[in-house]
Amino acid sequence: MPTMIWMEDICKTYRLGEVDVPILKGIDLTIEEGDYVSIMGASGSGKSTLMNIIGCLDRPSAGHYVLEGRNLTTLSDEGLAYIRNQRIGFVFQQFNLLSRSTALENVMLPMVYAGASRSQRRKQAEVALDRVGLGDRMGNRPSQLSGGQQQRVAIARALVNRPALVLADEPTGALDTHTSHEVMNLLTELNSQGITVVIVTHEPDIAAQTHRIIYVQDGLLQREPNH
Ligand SMILES: Nc1ncnc2c1ncn2[C@@H]1O[C@H](COP(=O)(O)OP(=O)(O)O)[C@@H](O)[C@H]1O
Ligand SMILES: [Mg+2]
Repeated sequence: MPTMIWMEDICKTYRLGEVDVPILKGIDLTIEEGDYVSIMGASGSGKSTLMNIIGCLDRPSAGHYVLEGRNLTTLSDEGLAYIRNQRIGFVFQQFNLLSRSTALENVMLPMVYAGASRSQRRKQAEVALDRVGLGDRMGNRPSQLSGGQQQRVAIARALVNRPALVLADEPTGALDTHTSHEVMNLLTELNSQGITVVIVTHEPDIAAQTHRIIYVQDGLLQREPNH
C-alpha cells in the first residue's frame, strides 16, 4: 500500500511562561493508505497534540511530515489549510457543531472553499448525511439530536469533501456504550470503503476494533505499553 502518513522525529514543545515544556520528543510514525489505527496513552501524554499535527491543525516544533507524498514541513499556512480542507476530515469528542445551524448547514460548511454552487454543495451534504444514516434529520439543529446523532453529523461533515484520511480524537468520549459502538461501526465501515482512519481513545475495547494500536508514552511512540 502507498504511504499516507510519514513522520520523522516530530517534536512539539509548548512554552509556558519562561519554561519550555517538551510534549512530543521525536515521534517516528508511518501509516499506510487504508490503515485503521488507534492511538492510546495516558491523559496529557500528547495524543491530541499529535492528532492536531497529523490533521494540519497545528505544526510541529521540529521534524518532518509527509502526507500523501507532499512535504508539509515547508508548506505555507494557506497550503496547509487547503490540504486540511480537501484531504482530511476531523471528528472531535465534543462534536463541535454550530448550534444555530441545521445538520445540513453544518455538513455544507467545509465546502465553502470548494467553489461549488449552493445546489451542488447541498446535494453533496445530503449524500454525506445519508451515508451516516441521518437522511431524515437534515433540518434538525444539534439540540434536537441525540449525542450519537450529533457525532454522526460531525462524521458527515468530515466526509463531505471526500477525504482520504479521517481523524477522530476521542470520538466516543462523550457517548454511552451503545452509541459508542454505533459510531465505531460507522468508522469501521468508512475504513472498509478505503478511507484511512486514525482515532485517539483511552478505551481498550474501542482500540481493539482497529487494526493497529500505537501508544504515546513519555513523548515517544511505543508499539506495546511499557509496564
Ligand atoms: N496550546 C497549549 N499550550 C500549552 N500547553 C499545552 C497546549 N496544548 C496542550 N498542552 C499540554 O500538553 C500536554 C499534552 O496535551 P494533549 O496533547 O492534549 O494530551 P492528551 O490528548 O494525550 O490528553 C498537556 O500537559 C497539556 O496541558
Ligand atoms: Mg486529548
